[in-house]
Amino acid sequence: MDNLLVELRTILEPLKLADLFPRARPLEVELGCGDASFLVEYARRNPEINFIGVERLLGRIQKLDKKGRRTGLLNTRGVRIESAYFLEYLLPPHSAAALHIYFPDPWPKKKHRRHRLINPQFPALARRALQDQGTVYLRTDDTDYFGQMNEVFAAATEFEKAETPATLAEITTDFEREFNAQGIPTLRAAYRLRK
Ligand SMILES: C[S@@+](CC[C@H](N)C(=O)[O-])C[C@H]1O[C@@H](n2cnc3c(N)ncnc32)[C@H](O)[C@@H]1O
Repeated sequence: MDNLLVELRTILEPLKLADLFPRARPLEVELGCGDASFLVEYARRNPEINFIGVERLLGRIQKLDKKGRRTGLLNTRGVRIESAYFLEYLLPPHSAAALHIYFPDPWPKKKHRRHRLINPQFPALARRALQDQGTVYLRTDDTDYFGQMNEVFAAATEFEKAETPATLAEITTDFEREFNAQGIPTLRAAYRLRK
């Protein structure tokens, strides 16, 4: 089985999705997929969907390759790049049915909050990435960041609140399992593009 990591020949043009996957199917993207435990399990349970995991750390995205190949996934690829850049420049516009963002770095210090991925500019990036009625799924343990996530999406009138399906919520991420083991609750939200 070939390496699941996408070798980017250029970062100046959008990816050609037809070159990445053997079959055209709905696409979902996880941003900051870490060690990819969530993505590999979700992709295994949903072979009718194509998945891209985005992660900036090489050691972590290599785990996606290793675990994905071990699981025999034909519907999953990994891209090592910064998430906002990926959405703005590499993902073809309106190509994703869902974006998954789980436990993004919280940048808890006030002076560092501008580094947060879910910021006032994010809904526009998500709108560009998503197909009609596409959904953004969010999870965090950080109450301040959760407040910011809800604020920026509440201000983005093209999005409406949605539910996280139980079949999705039951698949936990590596960080989520660690937080749960320490008794730290997971906060979840979902926002869908209005019709
Ligand atoms: C706290 S970890 C959570 C990993 C995984 N989602 C989980 O829940 O187990 C955040 C991950 O996002 C990655 N990351 C943070 N900011 C990123 C960015 N702007 N672009 C791509 N990856 C990013 C980090 O390298 C890290 O692997």
